[in-house]
Amino acid sequence: MSTRFPTGFTWGVATSAYQIEGAPLADGAGPSNWHRFAHEPGRIQNGDTGDVACDHYHRFREDVALIKRLGVSAYRFSFNWARIQPTGRGKVNPKGLDFYKRLVDELHAHGIRPFATLHHWDLPAALEDAGGWLSRDTALRFADFTELMAGALDGQIEDWCTLNEPWVIMHAGFVEGVHPPGLANLALAPKVAYHLLLAHAEAVRAYRATGRHRMGLVVNIEPKYAASDEPKDHAARARAEAYMNRLFVDPIFQGRWPEELIEALGETAWREVLAEPLAPLREPLDWLGLNYYTRAVVRHAPGGFLDTATVRQPGLHTEMGWEVYPQGLTDTLLWLHERTGGIPLYVTENGAAFADPPIEDGRLHDPLREAYLHEHLQAALNALQRGVDLRGYFAWSLLDNFEWQFGYSKRFGLVHVDPATGARTPKDSARLFAEVAATHGECLSA
Ligand code: FCB
Repeated sequence: MSTRFPTGFTWGVATSAYQIEGAPLADGAGPSNWHRFAHEPGRIQNGDTGDVACDHYHRFREDVALIKRLGVSAYRFSFNWARIQPTGRGKVNPKGLDFYKRLVDELHAHGIRPFATLHHWDLPAALEDAGGWLSRDTALRFADFTELMAGALDGQIEDWCTLNEPWVIMHAGFVEGVHPPGLANLALAPKVAYHLLLAHAEAVRAYRATGRHRMGLVVNIEPKYAASDEPKDHAARARAEAYMNRLFVDPIFQGRWPEELIEALGETAWREVLAEPLAPLREPLDWLGLNYYTRAVVRHAPGGFLDTATVRQPGLHTEMGWEVYPQGLTDTLLWLHERTGGIPLYVTENGAAFADPPIEDGRLHDPLREAYLHEHLQAALNALQRGVDLRGYFAWSLLDNFEWQFGYSKRFGLVHVDPATGARTPKDSARLFAEVAATHGECLSA
């Protein structure tokens, strides 16, 4: 079968601000919630922080040159909101904004299309102190920030998205407590989800009011499969899917909250949210981004999270403990295609953390990451050939970087970053990806 992707298909690499930039307080930036959280003892593996990260704040020109060498046509990155509005509201810090203007200029100078994520988890700490995602006001401040950025980078960025993985913000921050603000209370989930969806919709409205187009949202979907044909396992699967995959997709595209979840969490947790109209959350989108890494096989497990448990499968798992399951990418793209009424889709993140061997003679051989890429690109193509309107694929990530609560222990980069010197060395997977982009995927069938 041909592995040629359509001409015009977008090939890109992705990063996010706190994970790569470093210099979190430089040039008048305010602290973000992630900066503060990472400095709290015991929060991050090995006590790592984003203080230096990949030093991208100072090395962005070198990084844009690296992207250029990969031969990809697009770069997905995010803004650290607190660089631009140090307290999340009010006056702009011109030096913070300037950094992103210089980055975008540099991208254009190299013919690389910027895909900007307005919020990839690093919230100004002042906004978190004022209630963060438990407060409606945060949603309105985010809409203001969006309008500000659309104006400030007028004509420089055509492709925007509002939030990266709102489910993770909610689950890791408010249910598991492993991301800021570090709360662990499942009953907060509906309220946080509602404010995130509202922030997204208000931002889209603010953006459209400026007469511009091409706004998307990025969701993480981990397809759920039942562990057996038992009705109980099927019900468990449906609950897991409602919580992780439908909570942020259904209100926008189906105009309803997932029933299974209302039942599972109980009316009390939902009371305030159900009293709010859903129509204002349903702002039409130009595209939806999918972050795909793995799947879960689910069984009924009384006492487990939502009375479910994930059944570990045989076969290859990444350093994150995630099963390598390319078929899940095809299934998810088909599922989203159907659920969203055929909206244009992008794979906005896909990749794998593996323990890399040392660099030898300037080369780093990462055959497992190469195989992961290869198989998932074939899975993406398979979905395209089955009618999904897939417009592009972004590899996660350009660089080895700060992987949130795991610090620098998990390496997703196509490019190795030396922790001591910051030196960049493209891995074999970077070479493979460059070839894929150059041949529109034809090299995958060779
Ligand atoms: C996603 C995040 C991204 C990175 C990858 C591995 O959930 O969007 O920042 O951490 O996982």
